[in-house]
Amino acid sequence: MSVEQRGADTRVLVGYATAHGSTRRIAEEIRDRLISSGLPTDLLAIDAISSIRGYDALVLGSAVQNMAWLPDATTFVQRRTADLAARPVWLFSVSSVGATSSFFGPTVARVMRKMRNEPKNIAEFRRAIQPRDHRAFAGAVDEITGTLPVICSSNSSRVVTR
Ligand SMILES: Cc1cc2nc3c(=O)[nH]c(=O)nc-3n(C[C@H](O)[C@H](O)[C@H](O)COP(=O)(O)O)c2cc1C
Repeated sequence: MSVEQRGADTRVLVGYATAHGSTRRIAEEIRDRLISSGLPTDLLAIDAISSIRGYDALVLGSAVQNMAWLPDATTFVQRRTADLAARPVWLFSVSSVGATSSFFGPTVARVMRKMRNEPKNIAEFRRAIQPRDHRAFAGAVDEITGTLPVICSSNSSRVVTR
């Protein structure tokens, strides 16, 4: 029986790796929405996950630095390739430019979306664990001074949608 058919019997784990808090906030939002949809869902920092036994599906996300997932998140996926490949997995990446949101103004965001590729690890993860999907989100910023974003703190709340 598929995860979609099992509904409330499906236990989901949302795992995240963050440097400055945005990815955790997005992971919390994903967890809340899954629970609202009737799916029992746990939320853990990736470095606090000791086992994925007992979970039927996973949502894993990482902040992006230097066009790659954070080392904790990358290592987590690489060390559990077989276990992850055996389950439905959704991935998300949090950077300065998401699919529909950005730190930057609309023009800069448009140019950056055209120029940039996915984080380096995603192609490897697609081959290794065949995730159901990968989504890109922008992190939040506290304030914008000139053209440079102030990297968000864990309490930042403003995501600019452009
Ligand atoms: C050292 C460093 C490197 C970064 N490299 C990138 C990058 O290569 N591409 C990008 O779009 N954003 C980059 N960013 C922006 C972060 O991805 C963005 O701030 C994101 O919201 C961080 O998520 P977090 O708050 O969960 O750590 C970088 C930020 C830092 C601090």
